[in-house]
Parts: sequence; C-alpha cells; structure tokens
Amino acid sequence: MDIKISPSILSSDYANLKSELEKISNADLIHIDVMDGHFVPNITIGAPVITAMKRVCDIPFDVHLMISNPYDYVDTFAKAGADIICFHIESESNTAATVDRILYLGKKPAIAIKPDTDVEEVLPYLDKLSMVLVMTVEPGFGGQSFMERVLPKIEKIREIRSDIDIEVDGGVDFSTVSLAAQAGANVFVAGSAVFGSECPNDAIETLKNNAQAV
Ligand code: DX5
Ligand code: ZN
Repeated sequence: MDIKISPSILSSDYANLKSELEKISNADLIHIDVMDGHFVPNITIGAPVITAMKRVCDIPFDVHLMISNPYDYVDTFAKAGADIICFHIESESNTAATVDRILYLGKKPAIAIKPDTDVEEVLPYLDKLSMVLVMTVEPGFGGQSFMERVLPKIEKIREIRSDIDIEVDGGVDFSTVSLAAQAGANVFVAGSAVFGSECPNDAIETLKNNAQAV
C-alpha cells in the first residue's frame, strides 16, 4: 500500500493559512478537522474556509467531519472542495445513506471510528469505502498521546481488506508512526509532529521514511 502523510492543519497558524500550506508542499493529503462543538467539545472551521484554501492549494483535501449530522453537510463540503469526506460512525446520520451520498457526489467516502468503538461496526461498509480512519485519541483536540490499545483494530481491518486505505489520527509522531504502520495503517495524520517542527517538509519526509522502513 502507498504510504501517505496527511498533515492536520488543526496545529497550523490559522492567521497565515496560505503560507502554512506552502510549508507542507510535499504532503500527500491535507487533513482538515471540522468540529461542531456538539459531536466534540470544540469548534474549528467550516466550508467557507475550505473553499478559500482550495484556491491556494492543489493537494487533495482529506476532510474529517467531527459533527453530529454529517449527512446534512456532505453536499456543502463536496462543493467546498473536499476530496475525501470522512464522517464518524458514532454520529447521528444514517451510515449507509451518508456513504451513498458521498459516492453520488463523486467524492471518496471514509468512516472514522473513535477509540472505544468496536471495529466490527465498520466492517459491513468496507466494500464501499475508500478509507477507514481509526482514531488513536479521543477526537476533539490536537496534541494528545497515541493510544496503542487501538492497534488491533487496524490489524483486523487490514486482515480483511489488503487494498483499503487505513488512516490513523491522533498522537502520530516519528516513533508512533512505526507502530501504526506495523499494524497495517498506510495513511498518517500528524498535526503537532508536523507543524510543531522547525521544518514541516522535513517532518513529513521523516514520518514517511519511518513508516516505509517497517
Ligand atoms: C483530533 C483531530 C486530529 C488532530 C491530530 O480530533 O482529529 O486530526 O489534529 O493532532 P495531533 O497529530 O497533534 O495528535
Ligand atoms: Zn482529524
């Protein structure tokens, strides 16, 4: 599987988004965390900011919706420029209907599962998904520690589907990236590890090398 690094702009300087995006020019995807203050106890950015980012960045957008009713918003995020639309299985929307709507819109559907959600819940949808996001922290904030106990869920999905993208999100750094890769993940979100480093381009390269070395 292709190794992809998806830096999370949650840890970037929102006052200088354009130049922050230029600092991660070697990223494979741009991870955008959308939070509604309801599904998670934090509010971040919405579709208008994504529309503006799209004007200055041609790397595909990996939009992680941490919102209560994703079905109601997938059209809006597709229009704003999301390439991958990822929503939580724990949200209030109907899972199958939301996946189908994303496909209908010509975008790549992904489902995210929180650390305490059973991996079995996502298995019925694997055939239609481009990606599964396995959260390795409780969603809501950057800068938390990687939960190793989640790794068996990645192994289980990889066992069933050798060809699906498996993304890990939360606490991914130069060392935990290897643990996640070992378990079978191939798409790595990193917020603080990338934007907290002096040279984000180098951080992306190191994360990729460490994941590839497994
Ligand atoms: C957390 C977000 C993550 C976050 C990761 O709810 O989904 O994408 O930005 O940040 P780090 O890499 O700092 O744990
Ligand atoms: Zn995220």
